[in-house]
This record gives sequence, structure tokens and C-alpha cells, in this order.
Amino acid sequence: MPSEPLPPPRDPDLPYRVVLVCLGNICRSPIAQVVLRAAVERAGLARQVGIDSSGTGDWHVGHPMDRRAAAVLVGRGYDGSEHRAQQFTARWFDEHDLFLAMDQSNYRDVCALAPDPETARERVRLFRAFDPRAGEGDLEVPDPYYGGDEGFGQVLAIVERTAEQLAEELAELLAGPAPQ
Ligand code: 4NP
Repeated sequence: MPSEPLPPPRDPDLPYRVVLVCLGNICRSPIAQVVLRAAVERAGLARQVGIDSSGTGDWHVGHPMDRRAAAVLVGRGYDGSEHRAQQFTARWFDEHDLFLAMDQSNYRDVCALAPDPETARERVRLFRAFDPRAGEGDLEVPDPYYGGDEGFGQVLAIVERTAEQLAEELAELLAGPAPQ
């Protein structure tokens, strides 16, 4: 299912800033932040794109990633050790171009904090809208927090293929118009 085109940069002279949003900011969005950062670097966009993550809840602010999330990343060669959880607030709309929510509940919570409905409609998306293998009724990254280790592997698999697609779309968006 093709996704809507990415929203344009708010300011073409500044890096394009993406924030991934889940509930606790210790499992899904930090995994996605680390993996999307690596995909963006491989695409040659290290200086043009900034990737952050945050959670709509405040329970884990300042904490490192869940140890199961960190472990699944290490298993695939990534390093999540620098992560510290942050809470999503309306202020993130001042500095970010694209808001990617991990599930429908996160999506609603982020939209509710947008400065206006147009910004929410244009800039807030479900992360899995960019998953090339997602079906129409299957657009959430399942919350692995209360489940077993296998849930973290499933999250990583979804995130890796979605991050590849996002990096490709970011490269197209930021390449600018083709020369005449
Ligand atoms: P996340 O997972 O939203 O993927 O970081 C969760 C982490 C913590 C909680 C819920 C989900 N919690 O209820 O503390």
C-alpha cells in the first residue's frame, strides 16, 4: 500500500527532523530511532536528517532503553546504550518536520498536541504507513513491553524494513527538484 508523500521540510536550510513516538520511549520508538539513524546514514543523509524519539507517557523519563530492546539491537549489530527516555509534548512541533507514531493510540495523542488540524494532518503519520509489507488493517507496531522476548524480534523486523523505505523516501524528498 503506497504511503502519502512525506511532508516537505519546514525550512529547506535546516536539517529535516523526524521524531518517532511510542508510549514509554523505552521499547519501540528507541529501537526505531537507532535503526532509522543507521539507514539514513547509509543513504548519505547523516547531516541532512535528524532522528529523535519520545513517549507520550512520563513514567520512564531519563531511563535507558528496556534491556530486551537493547539486547535485540545488539543482536543485529546496533548500539542503543546512549538512549535516555523523553516525553513528547506540544513543544516538539516547534522543531520537527515529521512525527511517526508507533500505534493508533500514540497517533491520536500526538495529533491532540498539534498546534492546528492542518499540521496534524500533514505531518503526523503512522510509522507503518511506510512498511512495504503492511496490510491496510495492520498499521501498528505491536507493543512488546508486557510480552516475551519474541515480541522484540518482531518489532525489530518491522522497523528494519520500514526504516529502509523511509530512508529511500527521505533521500528523494531531500534531493530537491531534478535539474532542468
Ligand atoms: P514502548 O513500550 O511504548 O514501546 O516504549 C512501553 C513501555 C512502557 C510501558 C508501556 C509500553 N509502561 O506502561 O510503562
